[in-house]
Amino acid sequence: MKHDLPLHPDNKLTQRLLQQTSFGQHEGELSFGGVAVRELVERYGSPLYAIDAETVLHRHRQLVAALAGFAQVYFSIKANPQPAVAALLVAQGAGLEVASGGELLRALAAKCPPHRILFAGPAKGREELAMAVEHGIGEVHLENYEEIAILGELARWADRKVMVALRINPSAAAAGGAMRMGGKPAAFGFDEETIEEAMAAVAAQPFLHLDGLHVFAGTQVLDAQVLRQQWTCALTLAVEMGQRLGRPLQRIDLGGGLGIPYHPGQTELDLVAVTQAAAELAARCREDPWLQQAQVLVEPGRWLVGPAGVYLMRVRAVKQSRGQRFVMADGGMHHHLAASGNLGQVIKLDYPLVAATRMGQPEQAQTQLAGPLCTPLDTLGRQTALPELAAGDVLAVLQSGAYGLSASPVGFLSHAMPAEVLVQNGKASCMRRAGSFEQPLVNLGLA
Ligand SMILES: Cc1ncc(COP(=O)(O)O)c(C=O)c1O
Repeated sequence: MKHDLPLHPDNKLTQRLLQQTSFGQHEGELSFGGVAVRELVERYGSPLYAIDAETVLHRHRQLVAALAGFAQVYFSIKANPQPAVAALLVAQGAGLEVASGGELLRALAAKCPPHRILFAGPAKGREELAMAVEHGIGEVHLENYEEIAILGELARWADRKVMVALRINPSAAAAGGAMRMGGKPAAFGFDEETIEEAMAAVAAQPFLHLDGLHVFAGTQVLDAQVLRQQWTCALTLAVEMGQRLGRPLQRIDLGGGLGIPYHPGQTELDLVAVTQAAAELAARCREDPWLQQAQVLVEPGRWLVGPAGVYLMRVRAVKQSRGQRFVMADGGMHHHLAASGNLGQVIKLDYPLVAATRMGQPEQAQTQLAGPLCTPLDTLGRQTALPELAAGDVLAVLQSGAYGLSASPVGFLSHAMPAEVLVQNGKASCMRRAGSFEQPLVNLGLA
């Protein structure tokens, strides 16, 4: 049952997010994907990551519809590398973008047909490139001269033509994106100014076939007009590259970067505006012989899965320190670095957070939520409004389906790994069991 909650005025975003279909409430307890969160932590342990399959699938359908006729949707698996999550999207027709040999194995485990896998990454190793050749994936995105030489050699040994794209760091990237990766000196791809040399280096490799361009200017873009500008720049670059090559490119990868709101004042990316931009750009592609044949694609991660996930933790203690209320939880930055504000954020702002076992109870402002690590960095709530809490209460960090566990320093302080659970149609299934972080301590004779 849904009802308006008496939340702190700043928490309108949290309130909005709780209206999503993943969430429900019954007698003051939050449910997620039709399962009470208390039941989830009792069954799988705390802390815990849970992701709602229906939300993932729904968001994918929404984006496919918004970009229809313009671009296909690939999922950037780094956002949530659980094969079960990728498998949901693959079954619905998505391709996958991977950025390591490990991610490539996960993409294959998710039953993604190899031709729908793209491999980007600023410093790919020989073994990783060999895997790409062996599995005959759709395209390798080349980002430095050494990769061109190694992949060329591997392709010749395998006697296989390998499809490649150049990742280009554009000289005039559209503004925007909290973490910009383009338009400035960067480790990613070739500078646009050097495109001629990079193309010549690929052309010198008879077993590499240059058929694509990859541009990714930055992540967490909430403004559809910024995306429009970035995508427009990328199409222009694709035309120029095709003209230099003397044939149109077959694939134009516009990157990911579609953002989601995390903090008060942030709003959802306007999908209607994205749809309009896509329709205009589709018309441009249809009219331009240099673009007509190309498969255009986007490869978002965060937008598809971020809102579909929660990180659940339990309160271990509540205490006062010099007038400040501290809630100490069993979860923290070792599992969820992004929610602690330490994953590249310039200003540390809280993720949306709710007391899942005390829904609707009056809140007290100015609570600090700290995790179990011996560092003040391990803070998931700074001046958060939370109700009266006691040991055992469950807290839920919303918007946690992307860049959660796999983007966190899980080894720091050797705490146990949390379980990862998929909920679907009121049923939960375990994707990863909770367990010790420890590797066998062979050198100490403790194995
Ligand atoms: C090459 C590439 N593609 C796609 C993504 C996904 O970005 P986002 O999750 O912002 O959509 C990233 C993220 O870093 C990336 O590096």
